[in-house]
Amino acid sequence: MHTRGYDLEIGSPTARRRRTCNRWLADYPVERTILAVTIVSVSVLAIMGLLSPREPSFVDAATVEEFALAHQTYGNLKNLVIVAGHAVYIGTDFTKADDMDSWFLEDYQRIPGQVESFIEHISQGVEAAAKDPSALLLFSGGETRHLAGPLSEGASYWFVANGLNWFGHPNVRQRSLTEAHARDSFENLIFSICRFYELTGHFPENITVVGYEFKRERFVDYHRAAIAFPAERLKYIGTAAPNPTTASTGEMKTLSAFQRDPFGCQASSLPRFQWALPPHSWRV
Ligand SMILES: *[C@@H]1O[C@H](CO)[C@@H](O)[C@H](O)[C@H]1NC(C)=O
Repeated sequence: MHTRGYDLEIGSPTARRRRTCNRWLADYPVERTILAVTIVSVSVLAIMGLLSPREPSFVDAATVEEFALAHQTYGNLKNLVIVAGHAVYIGTDFTKADDMDSWFLEDYQRIPGQVESFIEHISQGVEAAAKDPSALLLFSGGETRHLAGPLSEGASYWFVANGLNWFGHPNVRQRSLTEAHARDSFENLIFSICRFYELTGHFPENITVVGYEFKRERFVDYHRAAIAFPAERLKYIGTAAPNPTTASTGEMKTLSAFQRDPFGCQASSLPRFQWALPPHSWRV
């Protein structure tokens, strides 16, 4: 009796708990189903997470080799193709380049055709470099949107080109790099020439600039003249702007600023000065 009593004392609470639990499950079939489905789904998701391949990095063993070889041959490149940047990419999927929300846009840039025009510049630059095996392609533009963080326009364009598979010219990738400091068009030109020198050890023989048609005069007649680069060795590929009227009005002001101040060192109306905002900006 004593032993049985002891057994009951110890055994019954556990048995009662188990019975209570079983009865609960039996009495609440819906909850039971939800519990079972939850456990199964969580397990399946956990297993899928473990089994699914990681998002592929764009740098694999083959790329490392490609870049290593390319670096040794930059010295042979003769010509420079510059794509002037206009915005910073903030998307994570570089194949969604035509999505307005993939870019950090100023209000005036939130118009139809704007991001398509950036992609057109990238593709024209890649095409120009594809046609000239002795060209180095530079995507030029600094960290101009301080609110978007430390992201350069140059790197943004490079990654978009990469995300879009170099528009069918994958061989251009190894001759493509960035100039990540320019804050305006004059700097796009002069900094890209410096970057070309840094990479190749000499100055470019010919330069092709890709940008909006309305900026042709600025590059060809102002910036080129300011640095005394021979006219016959600079080619400009101009594309249509999405807002031609506003663009040409603004362009008149910019041209007159550069006319007074060819290197853009004093003209406070230039974007260069408006972008130089503390704390994580820099000055040249
Ligand atoms: C540079 O351009 C000139 C004039 O178009 C051309 O004659 C020359 O072959 C070009 N140089 C290179 C390295 O492409």
